[in-house]
Amino acid sequence: MRRPVRIAITGAAGSIANNLLFKIAAGEMMGKDQPVILQLIEVPQAMEALRGIAMELEDCAYSLLHTITLHDNVEDGFKNTHFALLIGARPRGPGMERSDLLEVNAEIFTRQGRALNNVANRDVKVLVVGNPANTNALIASRNAPDLSPSQFTSLTRLDQNRARGILANHTGASPRDIRRVVIWGNHSPTQYPDLHQATVLDRAAMDQISFDWYVGEYIPKIQFRGGEIIKARGQSSAASAAQGIVDHMRDWVLGTESGEFVSMGIVSDGSYGIEKGIIYSFPVRCDYGRYQIVQGLEINEFSRARMSATEAELLEEKAMVEHLLPSETAASHENLNICLRSGVTLYADGTGPDGASKYLTTNRIG
Ligand SMILES: NC(=O)c1ccc[n+]([C@@H]2O[C@H](COP(=O)([O-])OP(=O)(O)OC[C@H]3O[C@@H](n4cnc5c(N)ncnc54)[C@H](O)[C@@H]3O)[C@@H](O)[C@H]2O)c1
Repeated sequence: MRRPVRIAITGAAGSIANNLLFKIAAGEMMGKDQPVILQLIEVPQAMEALRGIAMELEDCAYSLLHTITLHDNVEDGFKNTHFALLIGARPRGPGMERSDLLEVNAEIFTRQGRALNNVANRDVKVLVVGNPANTNALIASRNAPDLSPSQFTSLTRLDQNRARGILANHTGASPRDIRRVVIWGNHSPTQYPDLHQATVLDRAAMDQISFDWYVGEYIPKIQFRGGEIIKARGQSSAASAAQGIVDHMRDWVLGTESGEFVSMGIVSDGSYGIEKGIIYSFPVRCDYGRYQIVQGLEINEFSRARMSATEAELLEEKAMVEHLLPSETAASHENLNICLRSGVTLYADGTGPDGASKYLTTNRIG
């Protein structure tokens, strides 16, 4: 059996976590041979509910679940963690403006970025799910000066899965036969689900659907799917979000399928003309625990306009929280010609490859 890895999860008593924790413990995320230690984090008022979930996990007798620890603060909960899933966030309350929402969450993610910087494993991989996910991820990353910006990502895999599932339903193909769907930009209604590179049964998707359907029905359906689900079930998507998290982390750690690419919110390095220093969803390929942006895709005028619209929204969100972003990390986020860690786990007791290993210094873009 392999050594266990530590996975810290905030919002661990919430709806998404309720669907996610059991998948992780069953080996769906890190692999069927990888034991896990779950470091579950909640606000103090939710600790009793969290204890109930921990009991249920114990009662499943998962062979891969090594240990569960419960924490009411991130400074303890993030200690030595190899993975951090930041799900807990403040929801939008009545009468709250978007700028208020950004501001209250900025406090949460500033503290979480600092805690990751101070106590997490140096190789930690971070996924931000709590909304507004892209900008929250940027805030956390900007508050972690000793970690690489490439260690911070945000979730758009749920949007990608929606885009595949809905296209499969429309064309009558299996989701398995749909490849290379791309989500560009923000996890919000400005996101751009792009089918120009996509294939259905190895033939161009755009040749198999009508352009009117694509523009008039498909794109808005993906963009507003979250709201549609809230309207129908009175709660936001939880099971599908959990599946998106599992898919995002599994591909990051274990690699994308050959010939496929996946969408992840990552710090822009200027690829495709997107302004540097924001967290923007790009198509990437993952291998050896690294990701690289897929280069050279053809972008037509139609796509460019939509990619720019979602970029503009992210720049606007960034401007609203600019006063909370430490200036010392501005340069590292603007100049991403940096080395990427390989994803090889470094343990708290110092075992693992030393920092001079060649394979820890592969350039991100190559
Ligand atoms: N990126 C995506 O694709 C995506 C999809 C669905 C939902 N979301 C977002 O994910 C978040 C969680 O959704 P949910 O349905 O699980 O919500 P939920 O309200 O059911 O659960 C959130 C949990 O987080 C906890 N929490 C709040 N602040 C915390 C903090 N500072 N530290 C630790 N725990 C904290 C709360 O106590 C609560 O138990 C929301 O912000 C939602 O908008 C994102």
